[in-house]
This record gives sequence, structure tokens and C-alpha cells, in this order.
Amino acid sequence: MFKYTQIFKGTAFSSKSSKEVQILQDYLFCINADGIIEKTIAPEHPDYQTVLHTYKGKENFYQLTDGQYFFPGFVDLHVHAPQWAQAGTALDIPLYDWLNTYTFPIESKFSDLAFAKEVYEDLVSTLLANGTTTSLYFATVHKEASLLLAEICATKGQRGLVGKVVMDDPEQNPAFYRDANTATALADTEEFILAVKELAKSTKQGVYPVVTPRFIPSCTDSALKGLGELAAKYDTHIQSHCSESDWEHSYVQDRFNKNDAYALHDFGLLGDKSVMAHCNFLNDEDATLFAETGTAIGHCPISNAYFANSVIPIARFHGKGVDIGLGSDISGGFSPSLFDNARQAVMSSRMLEDGVNTALPADKRGVPNSRITINEAFYLATAGGGESLSLPIGRLQENYTWDVQVIDTKVASAKLPIFDNKEELIDIFQKIMYLVRPENIREVWVQGIKVHERTE
Ligand code: GUN
Ligand code: FE
Repeated sequence: MFKYTQIFKGTAFSSKSSKEVQILQDYLFCINADGIIEKTIAPEHPDYQTVLHTYKGKENFYQLTDGQYFFPGFVDLHVHAPQWAQAGTALDIPLYDWLNTYTFPIESKFSDLAFAKEVYEDLVSTLLANGTTTSLYFATVHKEASLLLAEICATKGQRGLVGKVVMDDPEQNPAFYRDANTATALADTEEFILAVKELAKSTKQGVYPVVTPRFIPSCTDSALKGLGELAAKYDTHIQSHCSESDWEHSYVQDRFNKNDAYALHDFGLLGDKSVMAHCNFLNDEDATLFAETGTAIGHCPISNAYFANSVIPIARFHGKGVDIGLGSDISGGFSPSLFDNARQAVMSSRMLEDGVNTALPADKRGVPNSRITINEAFYLATAGGGESLSLPIGRLQENYTWDVQVIDTKVASAKLPIFDNKEELIDIFQKIMYLVRPENIREVWVQGIKVHERTE
């Protein structure tokens, strides 16, 4: 009488709103053949016992053990895949110098497909092991290596949104690492879009091409205009960096006499499927433009501590109705974990609220009402990321994909400090958010398929 492909039984956490976490205690999650949650059934529901009785003991019935919980898979809105090769290093100089000294040289090596394969396979596996089921990637300028990244996501079962990076301005980019010219940058992007759309047909979870001007300083006006047109022609996602640092923000003001947000908008690069990384220096008008166009912010709190010269007022932008998700910004951010980034998002917001300069009196030190809670950081890593990408992901509710992490709080090598077997579930949720390590993430599923299992 029931025709579900899989049934999962256990306690799950999912965002009800940006501030509230919903606890789904002992629920049944009924998954269809497409890997979508067709039905969620609470223990008090009249069908609960019947469904349980029908499926229990069958091979497509999965039940969590004591101390295990379902979390939505994380959505990482900003990953520079080639920079995985330098993660944790090169964090000593400002953005402009960092790009030229460390980052462009390492990215230029991805013309070598064997090197690209080694790094990208390791990165995609590492992100899955950290609970990231969807990633929005910058690859490099190289069309073939960018396609290879999409193929690796397809094979490993991650929902990858991948961009071939465009940086065509010979004045701004080194000769060893840029598009040959504007025409090839646009032609390569179009071929890349078509190839990824073709590849997507063979995947269950989907892979997506993304139009990717690196940032305004890397691109000529004609490339930016052409990319806006390609995104419209193929209805793709769009990503770039926006108002990240003092240097980058003022570069765009000097060139266009306006802020990044308006300049990007003029080139047709803001819309419902656009995600802009960082955005620390948006003013209220820019934020309103983001909200009106449906453009999302990819908030990268660890990276911002190194390169953004500031703390972004996330609470203010959320209040203005802007979609916001979380990004690791590997390798401006050193950690592949969105748990780490969620923690940093909360800590940075607290420092913004209180201020940091002890030479000032307490009431002049900070920016009132800037703090976000761990519930909000969880929202950013899950549902907020899904809304930013306009995809049905990041929530454990009906009509969303079955993308989950199985968190085990009782793993011997990484046991969480839970000493009361009647501890409130909301406290367990907070302990998970603050204390989980990759050892606690036992299984990861994307669209109903198990893509990671931890054995040690
Ligand atoms: N702006 C342009 N390129 C980059 C990059 O690779 N990382 C960061 N954080 N900012 C950028
Ligand atoms: Fe970045």
C-alpha cells in the first residue's frame, strides 16, 4: 500500500525559520525513487505504526541508534577548488598581494589534468566527509579542468555547482594565468555550460554550470557584459566576489564611480540564481538591491578574518530580507568544515556587537544588535544556502531532497559531553553545532544515495 523507496527513522534537526530550529523527534522520513522526501510522519500520526510495521526489518529501512541524529547536509556557497592545494598556508598578506603571490601561481597549475584530478578528488571527498552535500565552486580559467571537477562531483555523488573562472583583462592578470582574450573567455564559458548541462543528465543529484567572473577587477567590461548575456541565455547560476575588502571595494568605485552591487547589476549579473561572496562593504542601498533582485550573499566568516578588513553586518542584511548562506572560501578560509565556519560566524558577530578596541568606552566600541545565534548560523549552513541557490535543499521536510549527515554523539574517539540521558534535544543540538568533529559524521547521503561512510 505504501511505495516509498526508503524509510529513515530517527530524530532530526531542521530550520523552521532563520532563528528557530525544528526538532523532529523519532520521525519517519519517507523517500521516493527520486531521492526526495515525499512524506514526514510524526509518531502521533495515525499512519506511523502502519508504515513502521510495513517497512521495519526490510533492507530499505534505516534506523538511527541511540545518540545519533539527522542533520541536513550542508550547502557551501563559496569554495575555490584549486586552492585546496594551499589550504592552511599563505595567510600572511593582504588580498591583492595574496592573489598575485600565492593564488594565481597555484591556480595556473590546473592546466595539468593529472594534478587537477588528484586535488579535486581529495577535495570533494573531504567536503563530503565534513557533511557538505552541495558546493558552489570556483574552478580555474581552464575549461577542461573545470569540467573534470564537475565530473568528479557527478561520480562521487556531490551536488556540485561549478564555474570556469573568467579573468580576461591583460592589465590586471598575469600573462601566465588568464584567459587568452575576451572572445575565448566567453566561448570557453559557453562550451563549458553546454558540457555540464549534458553531464547533469547522467546524475541523480544534479551538477550545474555557473557563470563565474572572478571579480570585477579581473574582467573587462565586454567580458562582464557577455557573461551576463550567457547567464540569461542558458538560465544558469552566477557567482563572483563583491565588495570584499577595502582595496577591492575602492577599485570598483574608482573604475565605475559606483559600488560593486550596482556595477554587477548593470552587467546583468544579479538575480535569483546569483551568489556573491563576502559582500562586507555593501551599504543599505546595495543590500536593498540584493533583496530586490534575489541575489544572495555567500558569507565566509573565517576568510573574512584574514582578507576582508572588517566584520560583515549579517544581522542587518538579514533584516533587510537578503538571502544569505555560508561559505568556507577555501583557501582564504582554511577549513573545509561548515561547522567551523558556523562557529566563526557566531563569534565574529559577537565581536562586531561588542567591539574590539578597549581604548574606547564600552558604549562606543561596537555595533548594537549585530549578534547572530548558533541557530542562525545553522540556518545559514543549511536552509539559507538552499534558498540562496533556489534549490529544494537544506531542510528535512517534504519536497526537499534527502541530503543528510548522520551525526553520532557517542563515537568513542569524539564523544560529546552529554551526561544526562534526559538532556533537552535543543541542548544536544547546540553541543553538536559547537563540538562536532569529522569523526562524529558517520554517514552522508545525497538525494537518497549514501556518498560517505566513516569506518574508523
Ligand atoms: N577575490 C578575487 N579572487 C579571490 C579569491 O580567490 N579569494 C578571495 N577571498 N577573494 C578573491
Ligand atoms: Fe573567494
